[in-house]
Formats: sequence, C-alpha cells, structure tokens
Amino acid sequence: MGDVAIAPPGAFDAFAAERLAGLLDQLAGEKPGPISLVLSGGRTPRGVYRMLARHGGLPWSRMEVFFGDERAVPPSHVHSNYRMARESLLDRVPVPPDRIHRMRAEEADLDEAARAYALLLPGAPDLVLLGIGMDGHTASLFPGAPTLDETERRVVPARSPRPPRARLTVTPRVLREARHLVVLASGAVKSEPVARALEGPWEPAACPAQLALRGSWILDPAAASGLPGPASFGLAAREEEST
Ligand code: 6PG
Repeated sequence: MGDVAIAPPGAFDAFAAERLAGLLDQLAGEKPGPISLVLSGGRTPRGVYRMLARHGGLPWSRMEVFFGDERAVPPSHVHSNYRMARESLLDRVPVPPDRIHRMRAEEADLDEAARAYALLLPGAPDLVLLGIGMDGHTASLFPGAPTLDETERRVVPARSPRPPRARLTVTPRVLREARHLVVLASGAVKSEPVARALEGPWEPAACPAQLALRGSWILDPAAASGLPGPASFGLAAREEEST
C-alpha cells in the first residue's frame, strides 16, 4: 500500500538509506534465495546509495542487481546510470559480479538490447527503485510517450526529451508486477511533480510517476512542500482509482 515518508531536514540520504535497508532486510527474511533489486538512475540516488553501502549486515551476496533504465552511453560515461551506481554503491558492497546486470544501452541495436535485458529481468522484481523527473517521468517513461502504452514487453527503447535522448527503460508492466516500489525525491524542484503525482488527478499518461503510487515515497521536506498535509495522503483510495 502506498505510503509517504518525509526525511528530517538535511538527512534525506541517511533516512532513505535506512528505510531501504529495512526493506531489504525484510525481503531477505521473507524468502530464501536471490533478492532482485532494480536500481534507479539520475542524481538523487547517489547520496542514498553511498549511505546504503555503509549500512552493515545487508545480504548483498544474495542480491541480483538490475537497472530500471539506462542512457545510450558507454558504462564509463559520466551520464551512465551504471557508472553512478558502481561508484556510489556497487564497488562498495560484496554483490557477486555475475549478479550485477547492466543494461547494454550503448549497443547499436537498442531494440535487441532491450529484448536481451528483458530475458534477464525476473518476472516480479522484489524491489524497484524509482525517481521522478520535473515533468513527472519515472525511469525513462516520459509523459505522452508510446512506451506508456506497451503492455507486453518489459524493457523497451525510449526517447528522452533531454539529452542523452536514446535510452532503455523498463515498462509500466514491470512497475505493475514489482513486489515493492520505492520512489526517491528530494529538492524543491520536485515539489510540483510530487504533489501532482500524489495529489493530482489520476492521469499517468501525463505523469508517469503515478504508476508508482502504490509504492513507498521517500521525500525530503522540500520535495514534500507541495503536499497539503499527512491527512491527504489518501494513496489507498487513489489506488482504487488506478485499478
Ligand atoms: C534517469 C532516471 C530518471 C530519474 C529522474 C530524476 O535515468 O535519469 O532513471 O528517471 O530518476 O529523472 O532524476 P534526478 O534524480 O537526477 O532528479
């Protein structure tokens, strides 16, 4: 069921890492075997990942790490989500290298790369991390994009309105089938899209982050500043709207 947690001022990274660690611990206790973690890209997660890497006692050797989207750049590129995740998290925790599954978005044939990646991605990932853009996008699912109408495929090529334009992204189906969704948002620039997603009318074609309404939203006070108040976090009611 969707919930919203607001970090204390100046403590977003530690607060979000703490909550993610708690969820990963819970997942590890619920079942044996691998825990599939789909990482988000962009700038917001960097500090959270760094704090998560310092969190002791997490079952990193059981994690299977995937990505929710990737830019069509080499893995060493400054805009690579993989590079960001490696530098802030994956090079700092003992996830077995063969359990880190990079999206090969630098391939010339993005459609083939998408199809290959979909074969790796578990049917119902245990935890999908997401962000929200100023336009309300999440992963690389942008407002009005044809990718929002994809019902069968789980990974597809995408076009971003801002560079790097060519991308790979998971589709709404993956967000629907994921066992847990967590949305991370910080900064005053996210107050409007967060308020639109959480409090606005149900229109995921215009605000794709609404596809994660059932998830846990972890915000800093600035990103939450557009919300009228705890009483209105009627995410349960809103979920009925979305079914
Ligand atoms: C990406 C992300 C994207 C991101 C939002 C927010 O590849 O950029 O997957 O969905 O989460 O754009 O980005 P920031 O955290 O940089 O604001």
